[in-house]
Formats: sequence, C-alpha cells, structure tokens
Amino acid sequence: MVYPYAGNLGGGGFMVYRLNDGTTGSLDYREMAPAAAHRDMFLDSLGHHDSALSTVGGLSVGVPGTIKGIFAAHKKFGLLPIEDLIDPVIALAEKGYVITDKQSARLAQYREVIRETSGTESLYTKVISAGDTIKNIALAKTLKQLRDQGEQAFYGGAMAKHMSQFIQAKGGVIQMEDFQNYEVHWRDPIAFNYEDLEIISMGPPSSGGICLAQIMGMLEPFDLKELGHNSALYAQHLTEAERRAYADRSHYLGDPDFVNIPTEQLLSPAYLAEKMTSFSTKTATLSGAISHGNIVGHESDETTHYSIVDPMGNAVSVTTTINGAYGSKLFDPELGFFYNNEMDDFSAKPGSPNMFGLIGGEANAIAPGKRMLSSMTPTIVLKKGQLWQVLGTPGGSTIITTVLQIILNTQHFNMGMQEAVNQPRMHHQWLPDVLQFEYDGFSEDLLDTLNQKGYKTLKKAHRIIGKVDAIMRHSDGLLEAGADPRGDDAARGF
Ligand code: DON
Repeated sequence: MVYPYAGNLGGGGFMVYRLNDGTTGSLDYREMAPAAAHRDMFLDSLGHHDSALSTVGGLSVGVPGTIKGIFAAHKKFGLLPIEDLIDPVIALAEKGYVITDKQSARLAQYREVIRETSGTESLYTKVISAGDTIKNIALAKTLKQLRDQGEQAFYGGAMAKHMSQFIQAKGGVIQMEDFQNYEVHWRDPIAFNYEDLEIISMGPPSSGGICLAQIMGMLEPFDLKELGHNSALYAQHLTEAERRAYADRSHYLGDPDFVNIPTEQLLSPAYLAEKMTSFSTKTATLSGAISHGNIVGHESDETTHYSIVDPMGNAVSVTTTINGAYGSKLFDPELGFFYNNEMDDFSAKPGSPNMFGLIGGEANAIAPGKRMLSSMTPTIVLKKGQLWQVLGTPGGSTIITTVLQIILNTQHFNMGMQEAVNQPRMHHQWLPDVLQFEYDGFSEDLLDTLNQKGYKTLKKAHRIIGKVDAIMRHSDGLLEAGADPRGDDAARGF
C-alpha cells in the first residue's frame, strides 16, 4: 500500500520460513508466463531482443502470484482472521500515507513513463511532493473484495476478467484462464553449511539459494578475516567466486518444473574446489575465460524484503517484487496497483542481457506456464543450530552478493546487524565483466590495485547495492534489526 515502487498485488515473490520447532520450508508465489507466451515473443523482425517490450507495458506482465501466496501462507500458518490482517491496510488506503523525500523523487522520475504506459492520468501521475498524503481508494475497494471473498476474487471472477482485458488492451496476452490456472508451490528450500552456520535459502525458480551456496562453498577454504574487510584481496576473492557461480547460474538454472537442475553436483565441494583452481591472487580471471562448469548429465533496485521473528520464535524471510521500478509502469486505476514486468527475468534470447545485465540460456527460455528465473534470496541463518539471522534484500542480480556480504560481515568481522547492513558493498556477476562498487567507502587506491591486477572496476555516484532488512538474534535472545539507510527502511518491535 505504501510502496507502489515495489509492492505488490500485481507481482510475486518467495517466502522462506523456519518455525520455532525447527521445521523449515519455502513458498514460491513467483509470477508465471501466460499460456500465450512463446520463446521469441520479445524478438523483433530481425531477431533482436526488443527490451522495451519485455520491460514496459502489457506484454512484460507475468501472471501475478502475490495474492495466492498471501492466502496460502495464511491458510497454513495464520492465527488471526484475515480481516484482522487486511482491515488495517484498508484503513491506511482510505486515510492515506505520507510521501517521503525519496518516494517523491522517484515518482517524479517515472511519472511520464507511467502516464505513457498506462495511457491515462491516475493516482501516481499527479505531481506528488514529500509530505503529501496519498489515499488509494481503488486499492481499498480491491482489498475489501479480497477480505470478503478470498483469493477467488482475484483469480476467479470479475477481477480476473477485468485484469486480463486491461492487460490485453495494453498489448499483453494474459487471459482469464491464466489467472484461473495460477498455482503457488511449497518447495524444499536450499540448505547448506558454512563453518558453524546452517543457511536456509530459496531454491529454484530463484537462483538465490544455489548461487549463494556455490559462492560460500568456494570461499570457505580461504581465511577471509585475514584478508581484511573490504580490502583489495577480499574483493578479489569475492569476485572470483561470484563470477564462477553466476556463469553456472546462466547455464543451468531455470524453473525446476521445466528443466532438470543438477543441484547436487553444482553444490558438491569437489566441484566448487575445482572451479577455484584457476584463481590466482596475482591477476584477475577474465570472465571471457570462464564458462559454466561441465557436469555430465543496467540497473535498478525495486524489489522489497521483510524479515520477521515473532514472539514464539518463528521466523519468516520474504522477498517480493514487481521487478522494475513501478513494475511494467502499467497502473490499473480501477484496482489501484501496478502490474509487474517480470517477463524480463526470462532470457529473451541467449546471450542478450536483461535489465540487470544478466545473460541467460536455454534453461531460462520463455515457455507457457513457466516461471522466470529470479535472484531473490530470502534467507535464514542458524548458528550452532539456533536461529541467528533472518535477512534479504532487493537489488536484482546484486541480491545474492548483498546477502553474502551481510553474512560474511557478521560471521568473520564480528559486526552486529545494523553495522553489517551499513557497510559499503561491491558486486560481480560474471557478465558484464566489471566489479561494481558503491560510491562511498572504497578508496581510489583500492580500485587502482585491482585495476593493476586486471579487474575492470566501476564506481558510480549514487550507485547503491541492495536495501537490506535483517534481524540478528543475539545469544541472550535479544533481537537486533538492521534496516538499510539506503532506503526509507525501518525496524519495529511490538
Ligand atoms: O526476481 C528477481 O531476481 C528480480 N525480478 C528482482 C528485481 C529486483 O530486485 C528489483 N530491484 N532491484
């Protein structure tokens, strides 16, 4: 309701949970390609990827999963009646919320494209200044229907009919049957060990858990503490592990209901050790020299994450998205929300980068009913068997490496959660072959050292990597939150 930039009736996401009895699991409510989608739908007559089609407007919209996800989680675990959960949101939509500085700046930046795409003046095409109060009466009406009729209101009747007609009128191909056929999946999370930690994260169709496990598996043999936090050597180690994992991501990962993913081999210590044998601290391994391992057989930051630990000790880590800023920029004035542009997370053409510069292959090609590969990495970390951290972040392709850096900051450099979140971050994703840095916090000397070793570096003003919201449970039971100062993020205890 208060974060149209990334939230989210029109999107999808993932939840990783750990109950206080130690049971873990995950819920996949990722968007899905409509039945009328096909692998070349974003190619022009010359066979080139037309990224405008996969990022803006009706064709970029995947069938939304959020409402089914919320109701599925509520049905399985909820203690309160659904009205108790939705009524406060309806009240907020009717009374309004106050726009922050950051929100007003972003709305100004996107106002024109929202207007062009949606083809009409609407709530977020008005000039909105910091301090203004925004009411979303259409959304309040939508939420009342969901409260009174449940998820069927969204996936079954008049609302599904309206959404499919609206999206089609804006160039899309989603039909009412796509809403009726949408399903969420309860899936086994990816769980792996790193030193005395057990890390539980999201499996495919997110690449998050597997990639994080690969990177941490490649790093574990090294003494990272000894290298020094955010030193040139530290940056080298992270980069070399990251680029090797992202090369595998691009080749092997996709919707597990459509492709066979050799998870066990990808995570085997012998395989990961072998990948790092080509690493020398003297010089960069260029990404061109790396490809996926052999096993037989442009930037934006608009997702959102929340981490919760309840009084009983249950933990949930949820990353949820409409992909780009304000999703497809297509705002539904009748229902009060933006539709996602998640179709851009598919690989539109082998070798053609998506909006995060990620390259994909066959495993992530578009197919009807398939889920697009994600980088979202909602994660829970146990230390010596006890709940230690709940964390996650937006950031597209940078999500995985951001989650990695928070865990390393806390595990090796003895930081508390807020301190770990505040640290400057870096990121490498194999292709493009460039090591990105947040502007503040990395010296020119450090960049020079890396350049001399053959690393291409990029440090851009205003570049932020991730907006982490995380919780650390200290050994005395105290919960410490880390809310990212890069956004309007905040921590609350009730
Ligand atoms: O699922 C994914 O990986 C992307 N759709 C996430 C997008 C995102 O984090 C946008 N913000 N940076």
